[in-house]
Amino acid sequence: MKTFSFNVKTSRTVKAALGRGMENVPAQFPALFAGADKLCLVTGSDAPPSLRARALSLFPEGKTPHLYFWLPPSEKAKTLEEAGRLCAFLFDNGFSRNSLLIAAGGGAVTDLAGFAASIYMRGVNWVSVPTTFLGQIDAGLGGKTAVNLGGAKNIAGTFHQPALAVCDTAFLDSLPHAELRSGAGELVKYAMIGPAGLRSELLKHLPRAVSGDKTALTACVSACAAYKLKLVAKDEKDETGLREVLNFGHTVGHALEALAGGRLPHGEAVARGARAALLISRETRSLSAADHRKLYSMLDALRLPPARGVRRDFKKFLSLVSKDKKARGAENRFILLEGPGRPFAAENIKPALLRKAFAEALK
Ligand code: GLY
Repeated sequence: MKTFSFNVKTSRTVKAALGRGMENVPAQFPALFAGADKLCLVTGSDAPPSLRARALSLFPEGKTPHLYFWLPPSEKAKTLEEAGRLCAFLFDNGFSRNSLLIAAGGGAVTDLAGFAASIYMRGVNWVSVPTTFLGQIDAGLGGKTAVNLGGAKNIAGTFHQPALAVCDTAFLDSLPHAELRSGAGELVKYAMIGPAGLRSELLKHLPRAVSGDKTALTACVSACAAYKLKLVAKDEKDETGLREVLNFGHTVGHALEALAGGRLPHGEAVARGARAALLISRETRSLSAADHRKLYSMLDALRLPPARGVRRDFKKFLSLVSKDKKARGAENRFILLEGPGRPFAAENIKPALLRKAFAEALK
């Protein structure tokens, strides 16, 4: 038997444009847009008219007219059926490998449209335009695409980098408070795992960001996006442990989302997952009680509401945690902390401690 090995560089160059009140993006990235024979703008059917108007000012119709595709609202969009429906729409409308998808919306829209872009004709270019706080600091960046399966989050998916990510914080002007708070859950995650400079920048802006202050939101988006894109550039496929730290709070967070049947906002689930991870870190003695208090207090600005609608079913929780794709074959796998900015991966946390962590997450 002969074996061969090749070093295949699959990544494309990723460009990102961050700012407030941008206009006519194609004029700034002519090569990407001039090379596209057709354009499809994908949004959620629940997108408010202001979102559509802003998306149109970012991508005004030029000599290539746009086609429009609406996805069902929120997580309902993230199914294999919807990905198939989008691919069939592209095929029926003559989209080729040189066509371009533009996904403007929250994490569900960018996850699903990015997934369809990765499988349509084995991969076409796409532009990610996250329009929520959470999307602009996390979900819309980094090229993880996914659909949900069997009641669990992101079980089938691909790595398919957007050719361009556009984070325009003007989209955030009309976001309801609950959306800002959800995004702030991911923001606190960055403050817990990131370096000291990032942490102090984020904690300085956090309270005003949660109350919708435009300058604070823009500062948080640029700080988090720059940090995340740096990790993604070094570990795009989440293989070396560098990118994995972004999963802090997500093992429990995803399980809670499943137990809430999709009714718990993602960032809020991550914040609750972070509480659980802090407790496990303290109980396994990797985190001192003083650091636990310091990190825990970062969640205060979120003023999380009671965790309504999450089934208090510990057996199901255990099964979700062990079936999580982040477990990588172990009984379970968590990102824990040894201190602020010092994340590490730990496996096979015992059920008795997970029971305490579940209760902590639901407090
Ligand atoms: N949200 C985690 C990641 O993009 O890796």
